[in-house]
Amino acid sequence: MKIEEIKQEDLDIHAFIEEKSKEISTTVGEGIAINALSGGVDSSAVTMLAHLALGDRLKTYFIENGIMRQDEPRRVVEIFENLGVKVELVDARNEFFDAMKGITDPEEKRQAITDTFYENLFSKIVKNSNARYLLQGTNYTDVEETVAGIKRQHNILEQLGIDTEQMYGYKVLEPIIQLRKPAIRFLAKALGLPEEIYTRPPFPGPALAARVIGEVTPERVEIVRAATKIVEDALHTSGAFQYLAILHEDRVTGIIDGKREFGMQIEVRCWESTDAVTGSPTNLSFDVLQELSENITREIPGVVSVTYNVSRKPPSTIEAV
Ligand code: XMP
Repeated sequence: MKIEEIKQEDLDIHAFIEEKSKEISTTVGEGIAINALSGGVDSSAVTMLAHLALGDRLKTYFIENGIMRQDEPRRVVEIFENLGVKVELVDARNEFFDAMKGITDPEEKRQAITDTFYENLFSKIVKNSNARYLLQGTNYTDVEETVAGIKRQHNILEQLGIDTEQMYGYKVLEPIIQLRKPAIRFLAKALGLPEEIYTRPPFPGPALAARVIGEVTPERVEIVRAATKIVEDALHTSGAFQYLAILHEDRVTGIIDGKREFGMQIEVRCWESTDAVTGSPTNLSFDVLQELSENITREIPGVVSVTYNVSRKPPSTIEAV
C-alpha cells in the first residue's frame, strides 16, 4: 500500500492544515472544486480545510439521499452556514430509492448507492459547475479495509484501480487519507468545527441503508430512522464508540393489542472501539437494554422484538450491511 499513515502523536496539526490547504489551492488553481458534505467528522474536516484553501471556489453540496438520520440534512447545513460555509441542499431522495428498489444483496445495495451518488448526481453537478475536482473525506481505515477486501467503501475508487477522471470526468482529492479517526477529530477541532461535529460518532457512507437488511424502501428506512433516534438519545452519554439500530428482514410472531402479529425485529448494537477495525460490545446494563426495548416497541408500530448484539468485530462488523 503506497499511502502511509500519519499517527496522531506524529501530527503537527498546524503544519498539516497549512500543507494540505496549500496543496488543495495549488492543485485546484483558479478553478472550482466541489465536495459533498454529510456532516460526519471526515467530510466536515475536509469541507473546512477546503473552505480555508479555496473560499468561494469551493462548492459544497449536501445530498439528501433519503437515508440520513432524523433532521440531519437541515441541522448540518445550519451548522456550516453559521461558520460562513455555504452549503447547497440537493433533494435526491427519489433517485436513491429508485436505485435501491428490489435490491437485497449487501454489495449490490452499496454499489447502487455508489453509482447513484457518482454517476447520476455528482458527475452531473460537477459538469454543470465546470469543476474538475472533487474533495472527499476518505480516511486511512477506509483504505486498509477496502484493500483487505473486508468491505467496499463507497468513497474508495482509485484504490480499486478505478480512474475517476476517465470514468466520471473529475479527479478526486483526498486530503485526510493518511489519518485515522482520532487524528481527524483532532484536526476538526483545530479547524474550529463545533464539538457536536468533532465528537460525532461515525456514520457510514451508505447511511441507514447499511442498517436495513433486505430491501431499502422509504417505509423501512422510516422504521430504522425512528429506532436510531431512540438508540442515539439513550446512548449518546454512554461514551461508546458507536451505537445503532438495525432493521431485520426476518419477521417473528409477537402480540400487539392482544392479537398475534408477525412483526418486525430491531437489533441494537453498541460498540467499544478506537478505530473501528476491531470492536467489542459495550457492557450495557439490563435496565438500559430493557428501556430501549420498551421505547422501541412502544413508539414504532409493528416492531415486536428488540435484540442486542453481543458479538465482537471480527467476526461481526459494526454495521449490518
Ligand atoms: P464495519 O461495518 O465495516 O464499519 O465494521 C467500520 C466503520 O466504518 C463505517 N462504515 C462506513 N463508512 N462508508 C463509510 O464512510 C461506508 O461504506 C461504510 N461502511 C461502514 C462504520 O459505521 C464503522 O464506523
